[in-house]
Amino acid sequence: MKGIILAGGSGSRLYPITIAVSKQLLPVYDKPMIYYPLSVLMLAGIKEILFITTPQDQESFQKLLGDGSQLGCDFQYAVQEKPNGLAEAFVIGEKFIGDDKVALALGDNIFHGNGLGSLLRSKVDIDGAAIFAYPVKDPQRYGVVEFDENNKAISIEEKPKEPRSKYAVPGLYFYDNNVVKFAKKVKPSVRGEKEISTINQMYLKAGKLEVGVMTRGMSWFDTGTVESLDDATEFIRVLQNRQSEMIGCVEEVAFLHNFIKKNEIKVAVKKYGKSKYGEYLQTILREYER
Ligand code: TTP
Repeated sequence: MKGIILAGGSGSRLYPITIAVSKQLLPVYDKPMIYYPLSVLMLAGIKEILFITTPQDQESFQKLLGDGSQLGCDFQYAVQEKPNGLAEAFVIGEKFIGDDKVALALGDNIFHGNGLGSLLRSKVDIDGAAIFAYPVKDPQRYGVVEFDENNKAISIEEKPKEPRSKYAVPGLYFYDNNVVKFAKKVKPSVRGEKEISTINQMYLKAGKLEVGVMTRGMSWFDTGTVESLDDATEFIRVLQNRQSEMIGCVEEVAFLHNFIKKNEIKVAVKKYGKSKYGEYLQTILREYER
């Protein structure tokens, strides 16, 4: 399975912060936002990843993430000229996807929780599509999934004024190769975007959509507004300082999953220098050597 991280968009809800800087490069506590969705795809075991950015931000992402070899991965980059919607990712990424299955992670979504890795790894061989549902207070901001009495998904609506349930669809989706074909058929919605919900509706109609409810043990944040960005930062700060373990440390994920060896961690320790992040990598190295 391949992975796509969608990191374009206008970030207009964060203006003026995002006028000159990409939202996905903003800090969420001690690391750039993009590290979190990247660590999630890597946790699923995915190494070949395409970053889709705006034309003006591509260079910054390349500067930050390079060709991925430092993480035992293969990173590629593509541009989305205009924020035409999430479904466009699979048209832009058609060549990259080739004949494979693909996971899409939104660059401004953060996941954390017990069992996340195994949950993700259970989806990489999906036949059809797998998405998630997460109970929220403000479902009208998201794609909303409705279930029948047997917990079977029966409808998906994008940003409904009157949501049929409290279950929002988080920004992490797993698809078989049909997604490219489906994405090409998506017409822009009334708000002018090619919606990912339309793709999910196509899979639902075909009887090929799996919706897993994320339970209490799982945390999901999107960081599109000042409040939610601040909440995510606070969450990461509190958890990391309490547990002395990092969330979204991509080198650690790469090391624990054998994408890289001790040597690459040593190189990373040098690169991150005296920062907290660098010090953390040093502790990982020390624990490993002990
Ligand atoms: P959104 O938060 O829906 O949109 P946005 O980032 O443009 O922000 P705003 O609504 O404040 O203007 O996007 C979710 C994620 O998907 C985010 O990481 C940006 C990315 N994205 C794209 O890469 N291309 C797009 O066409 C859209 C709509 C979003």
